Amino acid sequence: MKAYPVYIDNHLLSSSEIFQKHIHGHQVFIVTQKNIAELYLGVLQKTLQDYHCDVIFIPEGEKNKNIFEWQKIIEQLILKHHERSTTLIALGGGVIGDMTGFAAACYQRGVNYIQVPTTLMAQVDSSIGGKTGINHPLAKNMLGAFHQPQCVVMDMATLTTLPEREFVSGIAEIIKYGLIWDADFFSWLENNIQLILEKNSAALKYAIERSAAIKMHIVAEDERDHGLRQLLNFGHTFGHALESATNYQTFLHGEAVAFGMKMAAELSHRHQGLSVDDVSRIENLLKRAGLLQNPVEIPDLMSYMKRDKKTQKGETQFILLKKIGSAIRHQNLSS
Ligand SMILES: NC(=O)c1ccc[n+]([C@@H]2O[C@H](COP(=O)([O-])OP(=O)(O)OC[C@H]3O[C@@H](n4cnc5c(N)ncnc54)[C@H](O)[C@@H]3O)[C@@H](O)[C@H]2O)c1
Repeated sequence: MKAYPVYIDNHLLSSSEIFQKHIHGHQVFIVTQKNIAELYLGVLQKTLQDYHCDVIFIPEGEKNKNIFEWQKIIEQLILKHHERSTTLIALGGGVIGDMTGFAAACYQRGVNYIQVPTTLMAQVDSSIGGKTGINHPLAKNMLGAFHQPQCVVMDMATLTTLPEREFVSGIAEIIKYGLIWDADFFSWLENNIQLILEKNSAALKYAIERSAAIKMHIVAEDERDHGLRQLLNFGHTFGHALESATNYQTFLHGEAVAFGMKMAAELSHRHQGLSVDDVSRIENLLKRAGLLQNPVEIPDLMSYMKRDKKTQKGETQFILLKKIGSAIRHQNLSS
């Protein structure tokens, strides 16, 4: 996999040097949403004033991560005569990042793109790793491609306008990195969660940097998701089942993943000997982060888990913990 830089700081949207370094043609095409554009499109367009710049607005929401909206991106690229040297720019959360990346992967068999994630979820997770895609009416993320961006520009200042619930949802993924990979980072999170919730710049920067570094390391080892990368699904088998069982109406992604991580921790205690102390540390940190609120009982979660993309030969695969900071793949829960 080709390496690419991830820039993390405040006010990077106005850094013309960064964008100039990674845009190779004379055209750019920004994909965003109206609410995000009202806040950040002006400053980004000013930064890109030396390029021919077109913009498309995608309506907000997961339901619009679909082939019809994706097709509109392609149509505008053709109508506005964008050449193979164009650069697409994803200005928004994971919905915009996934769709823009997939449009870049397909347009003229692949053009460059830059991720400019504006949600915490997108900064610590979806903007890194090159998984791009859209939903099919029958299942989420069923159409897609691996296509890595030229760079990722994380402007932490954009997080100040993010609704609190979306911010907290992103923290679930940050906690996940500590759990699967780095016990010291998990301990650091236990000591600094309040500062992160207050959006203290230094604490938030470290949390984003460490999360991005762990994801980048894992993806570099296993870009195509054959082994190591699956550890990133810790809490996601249950999380996706919860989201699906509640028709994606009740939980934000990170909120469902938090419940999933709690369930996976309990299973890890039973099947991998995760200590009771570790199980309660996990639950405590998730609660202190504002997660694990308003649980709902789903009677038949197992049938939803069977539909998971990660199911292999009819068996649902779980990522479990041996201890905090050390995850393994576990195929069969009866063993
Ligand atoms: N490709 C991957 O590896 C990967 C990983 C995790 C999640 N995802 C995908 O990411 C998507 C979820 O991403 P998300 O959580 O960022 O949701 P999202 O993109 O829907 O954004 C959440 C909401 O926040 C708004 N918003 C975004 N930035 C804002 C800002 N700075 N200020 C104010 N409002 C802002 C958006 O308009 C939207 O209403 C899902 O489609 C999921 O499948 C992909």
